Amino acid sequence: MSLLTTQGIRVLQVLVASTIILTLFFTVSHFGSGALKDSDIINRAKDASSHFQSSSLNFGGRTPPKPKPANATLDFQEIIYLSMPYRTDRQDALSLIASAAGLKLTMFPGVSGDAIHEKARPPLLGGGDNLYDWEHDGKPKPALGIWRAHANVWKYMIDNDIQSAFIIEDDVDFDVNVKEIMGNFRWQLQYNNTIRWGEDVEKGWDEECAYGCDWDELFVGQCGGKPNPDRLDLHQFYPDPHSPALSDLADWNKKLLTKTWNLTESSNIRVITPTWQPICLMGYALSRMGAMRLLYHIGGWRGFGLPVDNEIAMRTAEGVVSGYTLNPPAFTSWRVGGSQDSDNDAGMLAQKVNTKGNMDGKSQNLKSSIRTSLAKFFEKSYWKDMEEEVRNVD
Ligand SMILES: *[C@@H]1O[C@H](CO)[C@@H](O)[C@H](O)[C@H]1NC(C)=O
Ligand SMILES: *[C@@H]1O[C@H](CO)[C@@H](O)[C@H](O)[C@H]1NC(C)=O
Ligand SMILES: *[C@@H]1O[C@H](CO)[C@@H](O)[C@H](O)[C@H]1NC(C)=O
Repeated sequence: MSLLTTQGIRVLQVLVASTIILTLFFTVSHFGSGALKDSDIINRAKDASSHFQSSSLNFGGRTPPKPKPANATLDFQEIIYLSMPYRTDRQDALSLIASAAGLKLTMFPGVSGDAIHEKARPPLLGGGDNLYDWEHDGKPKPALGIWRAHANVWKYMIDNDIQSAFIIEDDVDFDVNVKEIMGNFRWQLQYNNTIRWGEDVEKGWDEECAYGCDWDELFVGQCGGKPNPDRLDLHQFYPDPHSPALSDLADWNKKLLTKTWNLTESSNIRVITPTWQPICLMGYALSRMGAMRLLYHIGGWRGFGLPVDNEIAMRTAEGVVSGYTLNPPAFTSWRVGGSQDSDNDAGMLAQKVNTKGNMDGKSQNLKSSIRTSLAKFFEKSYWKDMEEEVRNVD
């Protein structure tokens, strides 16, 4: 005892007491947050559907609201879809699936490369040996128009004070339960986000933004791409009863889930990671600040040198814009085969028009595609139903 002064004993007492308190805290928050080991995920996912209903976190006596299905604009201020004005076939199909799913969409016209005056072309920058040229055989490339169409949406968000918008292409497909899928994703980002900067899960609870306020971009319709290989620690698995099985996934997605995330099955599980290098702009959301950052970095102020989706991937890998990516993605492309599948890819454009159109279409990555369910949605059999309904005529 003579070795310790009175002050030393005090310090020891405080240390012991705080260790006990800390241990208690971590035990409570560990069970409170329902933290999972990877091996538990499959088991937990089996009753994912009841979990979704009864889920609750509890930090220091506060409980977040329960997850609920997203609204008609999927909890964003607007859903905007890009479509070349002449693709009325795709616009008709989108009207049908949007009404079947209860979604409200607004169309923005696609832009062709030659609609952009030479003086308005962004300076070519970056791209290295692959430096992209705006022209091919003396004609502007479609890529210039694709960039402009997206830049028009970004500018619209800035000018009209749109706090968040979800941007999709006119050939998307999604699950019949898209509102639940996006409502769950929103809940994870806002109320259960353990990979957020500052490690403060509760921060999103008080934020006014649906999906939390800490992102520029959300990728939920990528057609490829990887998470940051140096930061695989930043990932979050969560149960979703509508997540497709591995056998329904496109190869790149299957590989990502099995090789990178070591999953043996993906049904009922989704993974959230910070966005790193997404491919395709089939379904992505932006916050207003995200729109401002993209317009600044990509063509609205600074120049660029690659197709717009590659540019976004590069700026995101650099870290000058950031957000989250959902896997398997909730939005995917619907393919009918032939030249109808693209309005800018030279290879696809060279093919014939498939005369069966949507009737012959298909998609991957979904458990229950709204496009393939459409026939059922409109099913009717009037005369057969009336067979038993014979009235007396005399
Ligand atoms: C919250 O996130 C953790 C992973 O960080 C996950 O294990 C848990 O299931 C999630 N909670 C709910 C209710 O989805
Ligand atoms: C859906 O929710 C978002 C975010 O709260 C809101 O901005 C938007 O106006 C809502 N959409 C509809 C159609 O109510
Ligand atoms: C997946 O498994 C490999 C090999 O066992 C391991 O090195 C890696 O850390 C695992 N990844 C995750 C995200 O657990």
